[in-house]
Amino acid sequence: MSKNKSSKRWLQTQNKDLYVKKARKLDFRSRAIYKLQEIDEKDQLIKPNYCVVDLGSSPGSWSQYLSGIIDSSGRIVAIDILPMNPIEQVLFISGDFTDEIIQKQCLKEVGEYGADLVISDMAPNLTGIRVTDQSRNMAIAELVYDFSTQILKPGGDLLVKLFEGDGTYEYRQLLKEKFAKVLVRKPKASRDQSREFYVLARSYVL
Ligand SMILES: C[S@@+](CC[C@H](N)C(=O)[O-])C[C@H]1O[C@@H](n2cnc3c(N)ncnc32)[C@H](O)[C@@H]1O
Repeated sequence: MSKNKSSKRWLQTQNKDLYVKKARKLDFRSRAIYKLQEIDEKDQLIKPNYCVVDLGSSPGSWSQYLSGIIDSSGRIVAIDILPMNPIEQVLFISGDFTDEIIQKQCLKEVGEYGADLVISDMAPNLTGIRVTDQSRNMAIAELVYDFSTQILKPGGDLLVKLFEGDGTYEYRQLLKEKFAKVLVRKPKASRDQSREFYVLARSYVL
């Protein structure tokens, strides 16, 4: 299929999508908001006084959702390699999460008490080569895990996006070593045909 045809088809699907329409109507920057909302409503992830780190935050719908719940007693720190328009209460760090300097900056912003929750919706750019893409996805998920063990408070939670394929079982086993409970979530807003799903690791144990 030509590039033009496939982008036309993507636009048509996007326009028909109920979550896209709903997000536009309510001024959310992406339909991804409904993935976080569904998980939060089921698992009660976010509280008004929480310190939350949003990894891969742009265009910003998860940060918008957080800023609607978290009050001045909490904190939101967001990171993305792409720009993000400002959101009230959200401290945005522009840069590559895999860069140690960016991680250090985030640790500094969060401060000594640590974060209550880390959420990652990051997905590396696709090459179209399935094995390469999967190993890149898993590599970034492993970095998110390592970073979470540095930034989370004891008892804190981690929500991370994965793609079904090699390494996801082992990843969940790894999380079980440091978290009391490891759950799998596939919110309705996550398209059926997508291999994407989320792992929710609860109650970080030092
Ligand atoms: C699916 S989008 C996130 C959507 C977001 N949750 C929202 O609700 O608007 C994935 C984001 O991850 C970011 N990303 C991917 N790799 C990254 C990296 N190494 N460092 C920082 N951001 C990254 C991309 O730039 C992209 O904006």
